[in-house]
Amino acid sequence: MNESLFPRLGSVKSVARFQEHLHSLALQIPCDPEVLSGAESQLLRPLVSGEIKIGNRIAVQPMEGWDGTLDGQPSEKTLRRWKHFGRSGAKLIWGGEAVAVSHEGRANPNQLVIATHTEKGLAQLRATLVEQHRQTTGSEDGLLLGLQLTHSGRFCRPNANNRSEPRIVYHHPILDRRLNLSPDFPVLTDEEIDGIIGDFHRAAETAWNLGFDFVDIKHCHGYLAHEFLSAHTRAGRFGGSLENRTRFLREVVRRIRSTVPRLQIGVRLSAFDTIPYCPDPGGASNGQSGRGIPEKSEGLLPYRLGFGVNPQIPTEADLTEAVGFLSLLEELGIQLVNLTAGSPYYNPHIQRPASYPPSDGYEPPEDPLLGVARQMEATRQLKQRFPKLIIVGSAYSYLQEFLPNVAQAAVQQGWVDIVGMGRMVLTYPELLWDACHGRNIQRKRICRTFSDCTTAPRNGLPSGCYPLDEYYKNSELAEQLKAAKKR
Ligand SMILES: Cc1cc2nc3c(=O)[nH]c(=O)nc-3n(C[C@H](O)[C@H](O)[C@H](O)COP(=O)(O)O)c2cc1C
Ligand code: SF4
Repeated sequence: MNESLFPRLGSVKSVARFQEHLHSLALQIPCDPEVLSGAESQLLRPLVSGEIKIGNRIAVQPMEGWDGTLDGQPSEKTLRRWKHFGRSGAKLIWGGEAVAVSHEGRANPNQLVIATHTEKGLAQLRATLVEQHRQTTGSEDGLLLGLQLTHSGRFCRPNANNRSEPRIVYHHPILDRRLNLSPDFPVLTDEEIDGIIGDFHRAAETAWNLGFDFVDIKHCHGYLAHEFLSAHTRAGRFGGSLENRTRFLREVVRRIRSTVPRLQIGVRLSAFDTIPYCPDPGGASNGQSGRGIPEKSEGLLPYRLGFGVNPQIPTEADLTEAVGFLSLLEELGIQLVNLTAGSPYYNPHIQRPASYPPSDGYEPPEDPLLGVARQMEATRQLKQRFPKLIIVGSAYSYLQEFLPNVAQAAVQQGWVDIVGMGRMVLTYPELLWDACHGRNIQRKRICRTFSDCTTAPRNGLPSGCYPLDEYYKNSELAEQLKAAKKR
């Protein structure tokens, strides 16, 4: 494991010290000195808005496992993960994991697919989660359970982990270069896009029949629907104006409402982005990759290759378009919004702040707390602007033992409605549940952002917490991961 360039939170021994640390970095991250439990808990307060009822303020974020069968069905590992989602006590399960609407749209050959032949397996996942949730919380009341629907677009690898089969919306000079795409590589035609809209519609109908309460039309992390949002340079119905770039979403929503009007719809959005990052080629030493630096933007300004990016300074976020997008969601009657940022493929430090980089990443270019603060601040601003939307916040796992204190303060101060946990759920799903019930925090189970859950799939292995979860730690897979890291 590489030496971290920034102070480790594991060595910060008290909340007061953590608050001092935030102060020394001039970061605005709200943090309560104590976590309240029982009837006083802010995180156990239900949220009711129109027809939506969510029993507490804890969400499980979607997390792909790379562990389905080759034809897209859940495996024993997938079931185990969903059981842990249920054990978290979270009353909002945001999608479980990205489930592809077609075989071609998979991000990896082991991603789940929603299709007739996988219905039974998906129903079993749902039932397992619900049963575990009932055992943990005592009731299914207020549980809102969604399925995240995806097409992986530029990042499709449906057939082999080492074979990229991209479906692109427009040519992006930096990302095309990374995928070795020539300038005449075909972009998806409008007719092909109409077909994919049909796939989302069919998948939503299936999700409804299986008993899911909502579907997330995933618009984040560089996958297909997110790429539409930055298709400034695409000609025709799906590119150019914001109206055209959101046509995909509007069409999917229209089709779903026409046949399953009672199915709730949510959207997970990368609210801002940056130009892709790469390791500093001059900075690599002792087997460590260089620190992350932004790719050169010369010749690309004004930058028209991102959504939520300042066109003059593409390392900076600009929320203007996110505001336009959330206004559209309100117009469409969509209340459920989950805010995230960037992409794990081209700027992981923005999307999932970590002490240690994944194998295809770079050393953190900043203290990861800045990454947490950046997502929290964007979420605060958007929540203030859209008080009626139900907003879930992301990127809290790096906060480690201080996650409950920050989560409580963020909800209490109205920065966010619901706090989502991603990586923490892989190691310690009950962290917030324990904290809100006055139980001691189990420090040994806290995610330390080692990034093995990302490195493993990048090397063709299932995702999981290899350093801390006994199931992976002592398995043959752990040996394989060790060998892959040495290569
Ligand atoms: C292994 C892994 C798989 C992920 N899969 C998905 C996914 O399927 N869909 C999605 O929207 N986000 C996915 N994410 C992103 C997380 O939902 C979350 O936004 C991110 O990890 C930051 O939150 P955290 O700090 O709580 O981990 C994944 C993250 C990890 C680490
Ligand atoms: S491998 Fe485990 S400790 Fe590392 S980031 Fe993933 S969940 Fe956290």
